[in-house]
Amino acid sequence: MLAKTLELVTEARQHGVAVGAFNTYSLELTQAILGAAEQLKQPAILQLGVASVKTGGEPLVKATVLAAQNASVPVAVHLDHCADLDMIERCLAWGCASALADGSHLSFEENILLTRQAAALASSYGATIEAELGYLAGTEDGVTIEAIKASLTHPEQARTFVEATGASMLAVAIGNVHGFTPNPPPLDFELLSQIASQVDVPLILHGASGLGKESIQHAISLGVAKINVNTEVRTAFLTAIAAWGQRVGPTPDVRRRGQDWLDLMREATAAARAVVTEHMQTVAMMA
Ligand code: 13P
Repeated sequence: MLAKTLELVTEARQHGVAVGAFNTYSLELTQAILGAAEQLKQPAILQLGVASVKTGGEPLVKATVLAAQNASVPVAVHLDHCADLDMIERCLAWGCASALADGSHLSFEENILLTRQAAALASSYGATIEAELGYLAGTEDGVTIEAIKASLTHPEQARTFVEATGASMLAVAIGNVHGFTPNPPPLDFELLSQIASQVDVPLILHGASGLGKESIQHAISLGVAKINVNTEVRTAFLTAIAAWGQRVGPTPDVRRRGQDWLDLMREATAAARAVVTEHMQTVAMMA
């Protein structure tokens, strides 16, 4: 059933758990995520990135929303990392319940302006805005430990920022990075609790791939209520495709068992679903 992101996240926080938010690129990845959520009887958030929305457009967004609607558990659809108000509005009109208005590369004042505009827009659709303060580095940035440290969320600035923007959820930078990073610094849990003491809105942790169960659960215990996972799930899907290709060889014979489209998708979906299941158990604070 289609749910609102903020309601799922708020309820999770009340129960001392988090909602898993997983990026999807296709119907198969959506099915992997929903299959895990339905099996565990847990809510979930399906996230679409800007590149996916540019590629798949309205059909992709609406198919994702329809899949969420048909699920047996509450599922919200969210637009991830978007600095374009027009795209945010299109996605809200197509059924997304929330968007991350990403002004983290902007100056503090410009970030406030973008986020405030997005929050006003979202409220006219009965939707909500996740904001990001502090810059979240990614592997594509050739990230260094110094760069990560320089970009962390400042607790008092976070309070001013949330009050000035009307954002409903806040993505924090506490040493987390997008993608797999060799030897990432440990998360700054002291900083996370300082941020949590300054703002009332639920906190969001990006870059959960490769973080490990203990770090994720520690962050949840300090007030994080939405955990974003992308790279690990996508990598599992692609690794399964690569293994299938090696096994089947350069010229698939679609008449043979295991060599057709649905066979490949079944294997890749199962691999992604296993990774989603593991993360969902982690965010539900299962031992
Ligand atoms: P990872 O790719 O590191 O899991 O990060 C996902 C994310 O934060 C999406 O917004």
